[in-house]
Amino acid sequence: MSDELTLLEKAALLSGASVWETRAVPRLGIRSLTMSDGPHGIRKQTGSSDHLGINASRPATCFPTSATVANSWDVDLAEQVGRALGAEAVWLGVDVVLGPGLNIKRSPLCGRNFEYFSEDPYLSGVMAAGYVRGIQSQGVAACPKHFAANSQELRRMASDSVVDERTLRELYLTAFEIVVREARPLALMTAYNKVNGVYAHEHPHLLLDVLRGEWGFDGAVVSDWGGSNDAVDAVRAGGTVEMPSPGLDSARQVVDAVHAGRLTEADLDARVAEVLALAERVGPARELVVDVDAHHELARRVAQGSQVLLKNEGGVLPLGPGTRVAVLGDFAQTPRYQGAGSSLVNPTRLTTALEALQASHLEVVGYAQGFARGGGREPGLLREAVETVGDADVALVYLGLDETAESEGNDREHLRLADAQVELLAAVRKVTDRVVVVLSAGSVVEVPWLGDVDALLHGYLGGQAGAEATADVLTGAVNPSGRLAETYPVRLEDTACHPYYPATGEVAEYREGLYVGYRHTETAGVATAFPFGFGLGYTTFEYADLVVDEHGATFTVRNTGAVAGADVPQLYVGRRGPSGVHRAARELKGFRKVHLEPGQEASVTIPFDRYTFRHFDVATGGWRVEGGPFEVSVGHHVADRPLVAVLDVDGEDVGEPRTDLPSYEAAAVTDVPDGEFAALLGRTLATGTGTGTGTGTGAAGVAGSLGANDPLRAMHGARSPLARLAARVLAALIARSRRRGKPDLNLFFLYNMPFRAIAKMTNGAFTTEMVDALLDVVNGRFFRGVGGLVAGYVRGRRSARRLAAELTRPAGTAGAGAVR
Ligand code: BGC
Repeated sequence: MSDELTLLEKAALLSGASVWETRAVPRLGIRSLTMSDGPHGIRKQTGSSDHLGINASRPATCFPTSATVANSWDVDLAEQVGRALGAEAVWLGVDVVLGPGLNIKRSPLCGRNFEYFSEDPYLSGVMAAGYVRGIQSQGVAACPKHFAANSQELRRMASDSVVDERTLRELYLTAFEIVVREARPLALMTAYNKVNGVYAHEHPHLLLDVLRGEWGFDGAVVSDWGGSNDAVDAVRAGGTVEMPSPGLDSARQVVDAVHAGRLTEADLDARVAEVLALAERVGPARELVVDVDAHHELARRVAQGSQVLLKNEGGVLPLGPGTRVAVLGDFAQTPRYQGAGSSLVNPTRLTTALEALQASHLEVVGYAQGFARGGGREPGLLREAVETVGDADVALVYLGLDETAESEGNDREHLRLADAQVELLAAVRKVTDRVVVVLSAGSVVEVPWLGDVDALLHGYLGGQAGAEATADVLTGAVNPSGRLAETYPVRLEDTACHPYYPATGEVAEYREGLYVGYRHTETAGVATAFPFGFGLGYTTFEYADLVVDEHGATFTVRNTGAVAGADVPQLYVGRRGPSGVHRAARELKGFRKVHLEPGQEASVTIPFDRYTFRHFDVATGGWRVEGGPFEVSVGHHVADRPLVAVLDVDGEDVGEPRTDLPSYEAAAVTDVPDGEFAALLGRTLATGTGTGTGTGTGAAGVAGSLGANDPLRAMHGARSPLARLAARVLAALIARSRRRGKPDLNLFFLYNMPFRAIAKMTNGAFTTEMVDALLDVVNGRFFRGVGGLVAGYVRGRRSARRLAAELTRPAGTAGAGAVR
């Protein structure tokens, strides 16, 4: 079919027709595909479209977010969510589901962590693979994202993740490798950022060598919204479709590049074939009615399986029938059940904690708000809450992070709960000796107040039925079986990347290397509040009889308590004795969710696979297995592994450890010197610590002038007073929206957006030529800039009209000349 397309038609197929649609070629029966977010529910917009969750979308089931489902450690459950998402996509007329998101949680501060699975690539990869299998079983495409090394929201479209190849492969790419190899997604979304100096959507190494070459990906690579840079470079490097819509501006550039011999038609044809294959592979449009009640029940089951019980002193939970509870905290009345941004789902229904508790066997003796959402102190609310406790048997306190604390586009600044919430806890503790906290947050918080509570249940962001699931756990209707998919640090400063995160300048250096999450705490001996993999239940499990051979580990799990429940035995592998390369003390390499009746025992086998013993060898550019002793252990969590065996692995001699990486050898990575990081990278450092001002070097390379890839926020240092004023106005508007407790995502997006994205997101109204002219204005060449803007506008209109006419001309008469 590709032969029948004109050059312009081919080029036009490589960018979107609108915010959510790809282009069609009706004369050849090539249909347009509809894409929609997102990872935990379908956000199909029918009215005004946006990619930030601002305008309304059709009702759809809001499942728990991925950070929540990851805590289930239940791949089958992930697949069920995927199937339901796929079915709802068909129901809503969506062909490509933009998810799941599987960025590695480098820092708990990342504002979008609620949307991602884990700090661990194995757990992230296998859970995401479950989603993809489920989504695609319904004939729609999944589009895992954001590929790759996309770890901060600050300057998210104008940031360069500088990361050494080994860390990149072992940590940031392995999850994608698993999802690509094990679940064969039909599409994949690139990240906004650069990776080692090259934009992710035009990265030949990532897209051609690794993704397509090594992993065999044969789907379509979709840019993040406005995240593409140079349309021609993308075609050459394996980036298939630019979204949302640069109008025909990119198509013109691609056609011109072919005519000028800067792009081969073979490269163009390869990308076009990927678009056509995607259109053929997603099932034809069909009617399907979704049983929203059944999906609500599924959402509840998923949330039940994902609850993490972190503390249960004296067995205060579960609460028996008739227990008189005082319910405190705003989150009980106004649930926080999903995050904010492009993943925002309009739920089919929503249960509050108060409603769920009132419907349970507990007796609710009163409710008080306790604190103001947004954090300000309100002594009246505090007093009322303390009075509400009265003679209740238990104070159930609903705390959490509010909508302003974590969101797409906005990283967290600290890990604390709002002071007003902590004060409420302290006041309540004084008047009752049974305090149970239910936490709603898409990520971890510091818990210096832990001593004030008897039980702590972290429900994460549980989706539309999340409050029902937490009530089920509180009453014992469900035995909690969630395990942390991330480390709960004692303090933010205990995370290895803390000194480097977030980078405020363009360069985001991943100096901590492999030491993320438990890889850092376990290796450097850093204490945690709760370790990776931790979670309590109402019963206990014992492990025994570990047998390890070259194929895998087999052991028995026994439910030694009085009630039925599910457990997650976890398999960790680490080097025993010296190694030729620096390594984390241990890494997760397998797990299994096991349901057992009281006294029941099961034999569990976790097979080893290609990921178990390998490490990436930078010198040879390939994976190797070091021969010799490895410790294989099975545990309740990373810091409690009662079963340990040593396996002599048949592998290679990888030589002696490098002497130029002492910080990495010692896992002391919070202050890595420039020279050592350069040695790890294998090249000299381009810039300093990545904490610069954000003003860049313009397109022309003139210091102090801004270029197309500098974010709008860099206008604070612009030459033009007008541009500086624009930056100040933007900053003031953002500050005002923060003060109002409702951060404006549109403003965040603009503030962090590079100039080039204006041309990528305005459907051709503002062309690349006009962006350059705008930069002239910003850089103090006012008259030249304004002249350029006017001329660019006129030329852009003329070119767009001509190209559009050419695209709609009857078959056989279409030409493909260079058009200006
Ligand atoms: C987000 C993506 C999302 C896209 C479309 C972007 O801002 O980064 O995750 O899929 O918008 O809404």
